[in-house]
Amino acid sequence: MLVLGIETSCDETAAAVVRDGCVLSSVVASQTELHEQYGGVVPELASRAHLERIMPIVSRAIADAGVTLGEIEGVAVGNRPGLIGSLLVGVAAAKALAWSLSVPLIGVDHVHAHLFAGMLGRAGAKEGGASGAGAIEAARIEFPALGLVVSGGHTSLYLVRSWTELKRLGATIDDAMGEAFDKAAVILGLSFPGGPNLDALAQTPGANDRAVDLPVSRLGAESLDFSFSGLKTAMLYEVRGVPGKLDGAPPAMTEARRADLAASFQRAAVKAAIVKLERAIERGPRDAGGAYRAIIAGGGVTANSRLRRELAELAKKRGLPLVIPAMSLCVDNAAMIAGLGEVKLAAGERSGWELAAAPTTGG
Ligand code: KG4
Ligand code: ZN
Repeated sequence: MLVLGIETSCDETAAAVVRDGCVLSSVVASQTELHEQYGGVVPELASRAHLERIMPIVSRAIADAGVTLGEIEGVAVGNRPGLIGSLLVGVAAAKALAWSLSVPLIGVDHVHAHLFAGMLGRAGAKEGGASGAGAIEAARIEFPALGLVVSGGHTSLYLVRSWTELKRLGATIDDAMGEAFDKAAVILGLSFPGGPNLDALAQTPGANDRAVDLPVSRLGAESLDFSFSGLKTAMLYEVRGVPGKLDGAPPAMTEARRADLAASFQRAAVKAAIVKLERAIERGPRDAGGAYRAIIAGGGVTANSRLRRELAELAKKRGLPLVIPAMSLCVDNAAMIAGLGEVKLAAGERSGWELAAAPTTGG
């Protein structure tokens, strides 16, 4: 099935064309330069930029895929969660296109789509693994799977029973993991968006990831939730000193210390995610029975070098396959929306013309 995907939930205007789980085109127009001077995304500027860019980006995705609009068989759109003004632009464009082409419309949860990103380009990505020509049996994913989404706006664990049946097991109670990376990067004086820059700094040869002992949040013994605000505050105190504590100003900031702090932060942040995955695997998919059969990870922070390495180690240790996106599909993109949309459409799901944009995830 040839599906057009549209993504405008935050500050990337994106469109993509997917056929049978394979990405034919994926165009992402980043607004980084627009928001850089403010140190974060300004919602009003984001929605205005989406409005200006959405149709040219759709046209480019169609052209890059080597197809025509008339061949599109379904339109998928990320309709939640995100900035409401931004989401509205994508939803309105998707409705107009689906209506004018007389093809079905499907709303896709952006967080669920992040998990699906690792399936793209793989044969057998369709529901149940059944696929057309070129299917590789080994690429099939078995359920139930344990899903981890770590992005700038979300940090959640999921029980994935199938691509159309996901249950959230836990989520951050304060900052998202990517948000913590971005804030730690600001504290270290790195430019926006900080996550990739902090990752690069942490990889400085000789950087000591044990130079500073930063807290790894575990929360209650049973908790599958996350917390990153304590880690962020500890980082702030390491750099600026503890307020009210008169003895001992923080050590002078040298290039070596900056690299040590970045490496120490990255070690603690990644460990906090791995601890929760370990805990969830130990517990098992309680109401699904049996044990987890795979680990699925997605979201911008899965581009992090240390997280990728530790996820691979965890999966190997537990004897589970790991599904993780290609680097280009970790951050926001429309291919993941089109891919999951295709699976949902194939399963018979449809959205009505009343499809609404919503700021929160459906679960
Ligand atoms: O998935 P995404 O594009 O947007 C949301 O849905 O939120 O994720 C963006 C987040 C940002 O916080 C960014 O700093 C983080 O992903 N990120 C990284 C890396 N690459 C992107 N964080 C740590 N290390 C990276 N290499
Ligand atoms: Zn995202």
